[in-house]
Amino acid sequence: MKFLKFNTYEEMSAAAANIMAEQIKSKPNSVLGLATGSTPVGMYKKLIEMNKAGEIDFSDITTVNLDEYYPIDPANNQSYRYFMNDNLFNHINIDMDRTNVLYGLAEDPDKECERYEQLIKDLGGIDIQVLGIGQNGHIAFNEPEENLYLNTHKTALTESTIQANSRFFSEGEIMPTASLTMGMGTIFAAKKIILLINGKAKKAAFEQLLNDRFCTSCPATILKLHPDVTVICDAEVAD
Ligand code: GLP
Repeated sequence: MKFLKFNTYEEMSAAAANIMAEQIKSKPNSVLGLATGSTPVGMYKKLIEMNKAGEIDFSDITTVNLDEYYPIDPANNQSYRYFMNDNLFNHINIDMDRTNVLYGLAEDPDKECERYEQLIKDLGGIDIQVLGIGQNGHIAFNEPEENLYLNTHKTALTESTIQANSRFFSEGEIMPTASLTMGMGTIFAAKKIILLINGKAKKAAFEQLLNDRFCTSCPATILKLHPDVTVICDAEVAD
């Protein structure tokens, strides 16, 4: 694991966007693995700026997102499909048909997960995967558990994640308690990974990344076994 520390969220977002831009320039038909949550929003803003300035071109890019709540209508403004359209896809020159998010209303969730796993294989795998991290160390929706899944699967959210993510839901809105998510193996198959982590609330998870151990009770620590992971963090979490 390589660590890059920046003073501010703004600077870490710019650094992450630059890594993504290099990937896009060196392979214009890259498969980008994308993440939701508040963490990558700054990076998405920078990528939009670069696209508008003509520095990067998304016309041959394919994207696959890590996860989606289940069940949720993609048109619901709390869905991760909506989030991606709103924070990135609607503002860049990407072909919407090449943006992939697990379908939150799939009748048969297991089949949807199988389809998604196969889709990623058929695309030739993920060139670069962006990850955020939950306060409890989850990546995508691989929550701390004794056994973690290899492949894309349906899973229940932990109480801590429901608490943390409920801030996005307004009063009266029902937050889904399950999700469809890439598994640890799906994520590990990515050629390159950038993990973004900022803010005091992630300090405990960040510290687990620094020691010489890995465990399923902090799923992100397993990334220490991947050959090409860059952790991009701000001073608030690292100092
Ligand atoms: C969700 C997502 C994760 C994300 C995490 C952190 O649970 N499934 O992929 O990393 O939230 O979100 P935030 O960046 O808002 O802290």
